[in-house]
Amino acid sequence: MIDGSPRLGVLASGAGSILGAILEAGVPVRLVVVDRPCAAEQLAESAGVEVEVVTRESFGVDFDRDAYTARVVDALKRHQIDVVAMAGFGTVLAAPIFDIYAGRILNTHPALLPSFKGWHAVRDALAAGVKVTGTTVHVTTEEVDAGPILAQEAVRVEPGDTEESLHERIKQVERRLYPETIRLFLESQSFSNHTDDNKGAATR
Ligand code: GRF
Repeated sequence: MIDGSPRLGVLASGAGSILGAILEAGVPVRLVVVDRPCAAEQLAESAGVEVEVVTRESFGVDFDRDAYTARVVDALKRHQIDVVAMAGFGTVLAAPIFDIYAGRILNTHPALLPSFKGWHAVRDALAAGVKVTGTTVHVTTEEVDAGPILAQEAVRVEPGDTEESLHERIKQVERRLYPETIRLFLESQSFSNHTDDNKGAATR
């Protein structure tokens, strides 16, 4: 923290509509990290937010997750980021980042966790035939989609819904709920006492 306000970094890979909602809500974003060329990158640039492209070179078995995670952590530290918000980031990161930023990485997931974890949450909910799904904002831990839940909201599945139509209605909720929850989280962190290298537990 530089002036007592936690510095927020956002990790994104895709369309960036959740990132756009965070920016539109006026939540100060100090850095956007992307793992590939994507619309989120252009969105951040046009909003005047600094962008680090930490290119993921491989999507195969040779992908070095630890080395990649170290590059992401390096980018976050260079920009003195205190709190990280994942917004559709397509790479699962390795354990060290969850130690360095313990309790300070947030995620929005398009389902009511602990149901429908994973990358195809909307498709899986439709396939299961549930009548209600939704969205979850949670603290991210090494185990994917499993950390403490901060906020949830239900979304009804309508007859004839496709993965796209349902996901879009869920995202409409995410675009309100995630910025609100991030803002509250940042306010709660204003009183924390992080050390210069971003390590250390919150004091309350
Ligand atoms: C959101 O539904 C989020 O929950 C999921 O990825 C989606 C990102 O959407 N993890 P966008 O790329 O910001 O539009």
